[in-house]
Amino acid sequence: MKIKDKTFKILIQEKDLQDKVAALAKAINKDYEGKSPLFIGILNGSFMFVADMMKHISLPSKVSFIKLASYTDMKSTGTVKELIGLTENIFKQDVIILEDIIDSGLTMSTVIEEFKERGASSVAVATLLLKPKALKVKVDIKYVGFEISDEFVVGYGLDYDGLGRNTAAIYQLKQ
Ligand code: IMP
Ligand code: MG
Repeated sequence: MKIKDKTFKILIQEKDLQDKVAALAKAINKDYEGKSPLFIGILNGSFMFVADMMKHISLPSKVSFIKLASYTDMKSTGTVKELIGLTENIFKQDVIILEDIIDSGLTMSTVIEEFKERGASSVAVATLLLKPKALKVKVDIKYVGFEISDEFVVGYGLDYDGLGRNTAAIYQLKQ
């Protein structure tokens, strides 16, 4: 598959993705029995994962999405990520964050902190993909679909420069 200047090869087939998503949902159904968790997907990358996951969730649960907007804080040198679109009240809620991929872990640690500050009674993370070697901060991740190598991937929601999200499989950059 070619996107712009880059070539990608298949990494995870549609069937394997679907089986894994169903297995993650099954584990969540079991772990949260008797509870009513609030699922929060991080846009844009998680949209397919969330859609497929929720088809297998049998708990009474709400689904919502947030986005992270990056801006440069003039006072500090780094890029600050602001969480936007959270309209749900998460006070005393069991929150399950759904993410497409965790790379450095910086995005996820920002989100977890924010939810804890807003008084969630529990915050768990389910990520479809994890690049363990790329982790820069310690993040508590309860549900992981696939651990992958530290190489760029696209498809099934994940993008390269905004493109490539619209596939049923996941592809890896061909070196
Ligand atoms: P982190 O803050 O470094 O963990 O970055 C996580 C975010 O970076 C994900 O939500 C993705 O949007 C993006 N990302 C990280 N690795 C990849 C990749 O291999 N392909 C596409 N997007 C990625
Ligand atoms: Mg993302």
